[in-house]
Amino acid sequence: MSEPFRFPEGFLWGAATSAYQIEGSPLADGAGPSIWHVFSHTPGRTARGETGDVACDHYRRYAEDVRLMQSLGLNAYRFSVSWSRILPAGKGAVNRDGLAFYDRLVDALLEAGIQPMITLYHWDLPAALDDLGGWLNADVAHWFADYARVMFRALDDRVRLWVTLNEPWVVADGGYLHGVLAPGHKSLAETPIASHNLLRAHGAAVQSYRADGRNRIGLVVNIEPKEAASQSPADVAATRRADAYMNRQYLDPVFLGRYPEEMAEIFGEAWPASHAAADMKLIREPIDFLGVNYYTRGVMRHDDQAPPLRASKVHQAGSVYTETDWEVHAPSLTRTLLWLKKRYGDVPLYVTENGAAFSDPVDDPLRVNYYHEHLRAAHDAIRQGVPLAGYFAWSLLDNYEWSLGYEKRFGIVHVDYATQRRTPKASARFYADVIRSHGASLNSQG
Ligand code: BGC
Repeated sequence: MSEPFRFPEGFLWGAATSAYQIEGSPLADGAGPSIWHVFSHTPGRTARGETGDVACDHYRRYAEDVRLMQSLGLNAYRFSVSWSRILPAGKGAVNRDGLAFYDRLVDALLEAGIQPMITLYHWDLPAALDDLGGWLNADVAHWFADYARVMFRALDDRVRLWVTLNEPWVVADGGYLHGVLAPGHKSLAETPIASHNLLRAHGAAVQSYRADGRNRIGLVVNIEPKEAASQSPADVAATRRADAYMNRQYLDPVFLGRYPEEMAEIFGEAWPASHAAADMKLIREPIDFLGVNYYTRGVMRHDDQAPPLRASKVHQAGSVYTETDWEVHAPSLTRTLLWLKKRYGDVPLYVTENGAAFSDPVDDPLRVNYYHEHLRAAHDAIRQGVPLAGYFAWSLLDNYEWSLGYEKRFGIVHVDYATQRRTPKASARFYADVIRSHGASLNSQG
């Protein structure tokens, strides 16, 4: 019989969401528009023209949602703050009514025994700042640090875990290279500029936290381990580029103070000859933890038709694929966590997102299986010495999956968008059992 699954004392069992994906009421109580409000209201940008105008109506139903979390036994909740609710123009005057929403949410969570983890930026830049160049304007680092300071001063007395950015890679790749996410640019030249400014903004916010905060702050990245489809030198080189671009581009600067050498090969002339030493020092400001969003792996081959990486994914016959066409591959979660420890040292880790889009409404065996395998994989990493301190399912609720709209459902709780009725799926009940047994139920099931 295998060893029992026990998780460390104090392990955080959470679920995650983000502001634009669940809140709705994006302009309520004095909030300014974000780039996602503008993007989703631009014809042709999102599936069926869907927007976050209503989403899960969490802005008005947050108390019910906190009770729901409590009923599932969650002891942590990761959510993001909408910058343009706090600073409608992105900088300058603070909107007290916007701040009051998050103040109420944090109090409700704490009262329910649920620890908040706040993400300061989950993709919804104030539109007024985009008008000034957004992530392409070097001043964005100061705008972000100023906004972060407003949040630290308001909530650090109650919030112990802060995240600067969610997935800077997605912001740059989806927002500036491929144009599928807000602000919808398609520019090779802009992409490395946006990436660098995202990292500078991260560093500036960490620095301001050291002045104003007393708890812990970190960064959240999405990691997708890359494997070569064959041992041909071309496939191996393509895999190395894909890994540098998606996985090391943000972490090497933060932990090692330099960009991966493959970046120049990928971006050619768009990659700057050098970066200011002061910038690299700012970016390397020490963080207290790293959050990892893990969904899938990438088996890569050389592909001249896929610039600028010249690499594409190879479909794995025999694997289960989710509705977003992501291969289900739990061993790669263990591999990711071990790789992070080996490459970047013993920084405390959280799995800040992990989950799958499947269409089954409430009885969702494929999602149950996904969580079962991935929680076991996370435990496997702990057993091998990885300092994993918590796990957050993506997502608490079915929600607005960005340009894909509402069709792709990632929730462990089903949302009927016509009535806003929430119904825990089988996966929510499965996860609640795992939490209640502190992992032991992973032994018996499946
Ligand atoms: C993001 C979420 C998104 C999820 C599923 C992550 O990249 O942080 O906002 O909904 O993946 O696509």
